[in-house]
Amino acid sequence: MKSVMNLSVEKIKKSRVSEVDFNNIPFGKFFADHMVEMDWHKGQWETCHIKPYQEIMLSPATSALHYGQAIFEGMKAYKTESGEVLLFRPDKNAARFNYSATRMAMPNVPEEQFVELILELLKMDRAWIPTGEDGALYIRPFMFATNTSVGVKIAEHYKFMIITCPVGKYYSKPVSVLVQDEYFRAFPGGTGAAKAAGNYGGTLFPAGEAAKEGYDQILWLDGVEKKYVQEIGTMNFFVSIDGELLTPPASDSILDGVTRMSVIDVLRDLGYEVTERDISIHEIAEAHKAGKLDAAFGTGTAATIAFIREIGYKGERLELPVFDENYVAYKVKDRLEGIKRGRYEDTYGWNVKV
Ligand code: COI
Repeated sequence: MKSVMNLSVEKIKKSRVSEVDFNNIPFGKFFADHMVEMDWHKGQWETCHIKPYQEIMLSPATSALHYGQAIFEGMKAYKTESGEVLLFRPDKNAARFNYSATRMAMPNVPEEQFVELILELLKMDRAWIPTGEDGALYIRPFMFATNTSVGVKIAEHYKFMIITCPVGKYYSKPVSVLVQDEYFRAFPGGTGAAKAAGNYGGTLFPAGEAAKEGYDQILWLDGVEKKYVQEIGTMNFFVSIDGELLTPPASDSILDGVTRMSVIDVLRDLGYEVTERDISIHEIAEAHKAGKLDAAFGTGTAATIAFIREIGYKGERLELPVFDENYVAYKVKDRLEGIKRGRYEDTYGWNVKV
């Protein structure tokens, strides 16, 4: 690997892959044989190891645990019917990882190195990539501050790691989302567009409350006017109102999703008009009342394209139409998933062959 300095590779003695039931894979629970571990000290990436997946030892004073300098990415690799391995748009994740790193005052990982380490890991753990309709190898690069001090300051030491796990569906059925108007995920100038660990931690309490009412996820509103829909936390949000497809524009409060940007391109190429603009929850509720709320769906790496069956708002449950092969989310899912898995030609040049 040209761009990775001081790389050491230690292979596992006996693979654990036979322990996994590939017909029944829970999301994110079984980790593949190898992982990447790289440490930043004194202003540079010093050592880089690919080694058997294992626990790591940390000081209780590890600063990420106290002050949250921690970021991550989510990506997927697929095995095609002919056995080829494809990695979807890793350049986009590499760039977003560094956006998150900069926002959280953390060092960048050179993009070429980020991608090369993933490719190397995929070559070593090829047997862990599931085949089948919903199967993929989920790739989780992450970085956290490893200073051992409880003083609040930008850390000088960081650990970058990559782990991977075979996955099936994230959501097993269409989802219901609750519009939250008491708690907010992000605000202008905040960290909403970064994949910072704390963005997710902060949403868990309201998500838990929503789950008690039977909702799968929260549809977050903007933190200023408290009326514009933003994202779902695990996914970006699309809605079709009276035949017009809408999605909120990416901003410093909304994650610039790789699936989101790909879905916009695919929808346009399928002949749909897509408008990126602010969408108020009142507009959605009014459209529902007028019988013009055609469809809504979420997009994300883990979730792929999740059909939304219900939006909860102010005590009402706005039901969305049922899904058939004319359903826009079904069509875009079929096309995009087909491209990632080699079923449709990748005319965009998005797939990287491993
Ligand atoms: C992803 O879609 O990869 C995400 O990171 C969202 C979630 C699983 C945390």
